[in-house]
Amino acid sequence: MSSLNSTDLHTDPSLYAGVDVYAVAGNPISHSKSPSIQQGFAKQAKQKMHYGRLQPDLHSFAQTAKTFFAAGGKGMNVTVPFKLDAQLFADVLTPRAQLAGAVNTLWIKDGKIYGDNTDGAGLVRDLLAQGIALHESRILLLGAGGAARGVIGPLLEQSPKCLVIANRSSAKADELVSLYADLAASQEVALESRTLADLEDSAATPHPFDLVINATAAGLQDASPLAAKAVSNIFVPSSFAYDMVYGKTTPLMQQALQRGARVSDGLGMLVEQAADAFLLWRGSELAAVIDPRAILAELRS
Ligand code: ATR
Repeated sequence: MSSLNSTDLHTDPSLYAGVDVYAVAGNPISHSKSPSIQQGFAKQAKQKMHYGRLQPDLHSFAQTAKTFFAAGGKGMNVTVPFKLDAQLFADVLTPRAQLAGAVNTLWIKDGKIYGDNTDGAGLVRDLLAQGIALHESRILLLGAGGAARGVIGPLLEQSPKCLVIANRSSAKADELVSLYADLAASQEVALESRTLADLEDSAATPHPFDLVINATAAGLQDASPLAAKAVSNIFVPSSFAYDMVYGKTTPLMQQALQRGARVSDGLGMLVEQAADAFLLWRGSELAAVIDPRAILAELRS
């Protein structure tokens, strides 16, 4: 595969005759846990498959994906910063990928590239597996970028009492509220937007939240999107704070812990979204034999 670069070694499907080849594409990609997660599912389901990594240059996602599928690649997970490129690359989108505005899972069928987004379903399954009740709950979603947009639909489908989307700038949060207004109405969810500054004002934020999800990029920068003044308006000991970032106790998680709330990082979401991708590729009947929570426990040990 001439257009794949040196980090793409061992991912060329033409090197693996008789074995279905999958890959995760991102930039950077060396840290990705997706290969070990997917190989874990393949082992549990006794599936013969190879799973590699691809690191397209920032403007070369489509070329890399085209080369990969032309060489016989069966499916691809897509991570930062290529989820929008993947949406544009797909010939056919599932309704939830269309609404999410992003694709994290691609596969080829009858010569057509299909795109789906399993992030939101993965988040919801991880929350439910951790015993977090979503129905009738008060949820605060921090951020209004691609990561936030991808999870709003599946959260609304759980019929929480309210979903507040808070962002630094109000325009993006307002836009998401408009985009999901119909789904929110049909699920009878009060869907509202706020600025992060509104959260500091106890009159604008009179009730704490059951669940706070950080979908901003602040966790990556080792900062919290919540100002110290907002913390007591948001968290009570019965709250649960979830950060999509994984592998560390983020500043937002620390704020929640200081208020006596429970916390989680996003590793479970990563494993659960990967499980959905595996089932899309290899067959939904394998849901009976894969065990995402066992893979998660292995990653945490
Ligand atoms: P992603 O696809 O990861 O969501 P994005 O689309 O660039 O990336 O969105 C990043 C989100 O993180 C946005 O909601 C951004 O807020 P703005 O819309 O106001 O830019 C938010 N964000 C990034 N850094 C932040 C910080 N330090 N504090 C609060 N919000 C932050």
